[in-house]
Amino acid sequence: MHILILVLVTALPAAIRATQAAFQSDAQWSDLSASPSPNATGHLIFDTVSSLLQHWPNTRYRNGHNIVPGTVPVGTLLYHGRKNSSVPAIPEWTSLDPEHSYHFCGSSPTNGGDPAGCWQLTFVATRPLKVLYFDGSSAANMRGADAGTLDAQDLLVWGEVDPDRWLEERARINAMCDWGREFGIEGYVRMEMDFEVMLCDFTAGVELLAADFLAAWHRRFITPPVVPTDRNKHVAEILRLEVVRAGSWHNAYPGDTRVALDLTRLVSFYDPALAPSLVAHRAGAPRWTHRVQNISHTDLAAVRARLRTVLAQSGSASGLDWRTLFRGVTDRYAERLELLAHLLNATETPARTTAALVQTQLRVMLTPYILHSARPGTQAAVDDAWAAPVWRVCATRHTAHIHAPAVRAWLTASEALLLGALDDTGREICRAVVRMWVRGVSAGLDELLPPGDEHVDVLASDGDRTADIARLVEDWRAETRALMAWLDWGVWVKCRPACGVEEMCYLPTWPYFWGWGFAPRDPDGDEDEETRGRDVWLRPQPRCIRVVEPYSTL
Ligand SMILES: *[C@@H]1O[C@H](CO)[C@@H](O)[C@H](O)[C@H]1NC(C)=O
Ligand SMILES: *[C@@H]1O[C@H](CO)[C@@H](O)[C@H](O)[C@H]1NC(C)=O
Ligand SMILES: *[C@@H]1O[C@H](CO)[C@@H](O)[C@H](O)[C@H]1NC(C)=O
Ligand SMILES: *[C@@H]1O[C@H](CO)[C@@H](O)[C@H](O)[C@H]1NC(C)=O
Repeated sequence: MHILILVLVTALPAAIRATQAAFQSDAQWSDLSASPSPNATGHLIFDTVSSLLQHWPNTRYRNGHNIVPGTVPVGTLLYHGRKNSSVPAIPEWTSLDPEHSYHFCGSSPTNGGDPAGCWQLTFVATRPLKVLYFDGSSAANMRGADAGTLDAQDLLVWGEVDPDRWLEERARINAMCDWGREFGIEGYVRMEMDFEVMLCDFTAGVELLAADFLAAWHRRFITPPVVPTDRNKHVAEILRLEVVRAGSWHNAYPGDTRVALDLTRLVSFYDPALAPSLVAHRAGAPRWTHRVQNISHTDLAAVRARLRTVLAQSGSASGLDWRTLFRGVTDRYAERLELLAHLLNATETPARTTAALVQTQLRVMLTPYILHSARPGTQAAVDDAWAAPVWRVCATRHTAHIHAPAVRAWLTASEALLLGALDDTGREICRAVVRMWVRGVSAGLDELLPPGDEHVDVLASDGDRTADIARLVEDWRAETRALMAWLDWGVWVKCRPACGVEEMCYLPTWPYFWGWGFAPRDPDGDEDEETRGRDVWLRPQPRCIRVVEPYSTL
């Protein structure tokens, strides 16, 4: 790192000037109407990387696309519910919240089948544990055409996705631990109702802190796939809600902080250079259905080779803080675009009022990038080329320094991918916002910038002008929606109106839609109802659920 800092200090200013010169002359900034290729994945890499270890976005899009090495820091507590107090001699699942592991605790039944108590073991990491994280709802045992929650891990260790092995969790954990031994991987981080760490060896790097014999609410019936019966429905509801709640503590950025990921070694199935065979499978398909099972043999070999490389590599990255770089983009635009969409949604408000508010917001977003020299010429109505430099500054100001050859030379392949995702995302946000702003300038709506000298709108009659502005507002609404749909950030998926004090906002979470679509089908079932049910869990939409009795149906 010291070397890099030295390189940065000595080489950066000159290199950045050179990079900026390249951006100045680059034809890629000339056409404000050029939208990204439908096959591009920069925005998907951006969104999935921004969502790592966060429960909400990985509940919404369950099929994971990233594999990321990381560590579980020293001092991290890991909880394991089981039938007795012995330390596991084989790989087992642990959770980061005891509310989660409680569901798996138990004891030998005593009187009349009721549980005597419930064993909960607490371990502590005595040194950093080397782990591999699979994003998405990677611990959700799902099957079906669009359910690819297990694809990445099964491809990695079994070389294929076999739908018949969807429930083979024991075989899966053993295979994963066998696979990773060579690289010193000690555990795997996955997500279901909450995050879990599959721990390969309980005699290395962890110590038993406590084995508590807890009062049992239940027999071991919560563990899927057993559906609670009426007799224990009440208990099931209480416990189920509490694990959903524990998961929700990690819903938003920064997510579950008890795992530290190394983004400089991230491997993504959305990387079109690494997995080009997936491009055709995704073409025209909604994001819900993206999964990685149909990757070609060649591409899978490339993914495995890349993983071997990153797992062998250590300490050779740039030192750049990618999490903060990514977060900067969401910080800068998530609320502002949402506000824009809200203003444009106000169909009761006169178009002129909306237009004035929106134009101000557009200018506010671009203020750090609007060059003094950028002003419309006489052809403003038809030519937005004058605004291209604003687009370029907006899209490159936050990442141009990373393109400097002296910095680029330090990037790992994963970092180059992250940089591309940042660039592509920033480029499209800025393009859309600049375009909308330019339209407002042309319509004479900007407080600081008059439209071009011979602009038609200014000369138009008042009635025409009102119609033009109404059309402009409609176009803006469509463009804002298109941009937000392309970005598709989970932070915009909210309960509207917000939930009450006795409620929480919830996205359909595995396994609580158990029985719908992916479990054995009921031959007498109502097809329409089944289709509707499948849609609800395949394309999760937020809704308020009660956190106290009477509980909502999940
Ligand atoms: C504890 O339970 C596990 C299975 O959950 C079993 O394999 C093990 O033998 C048990 N240990 C003792 C001491 O009974
Ligand atoms: C997108 O990918 C599909 C499948 O490979 C291909 O047929 C199509 O031409 C591509 N579209 C563009 C615009 O590149
Ligand atoms: C994808 O893989 C699955 C499972 O191997 C197979 O059933 C399906 O036909 C494949 N789909 C395509 C489009 O190749
Ligand atoms: C805009 O209005 C529609 C229809 O009333 C509503 O469904 C949507 O949530 C609103 N969007 C925003 C961002 O307020």
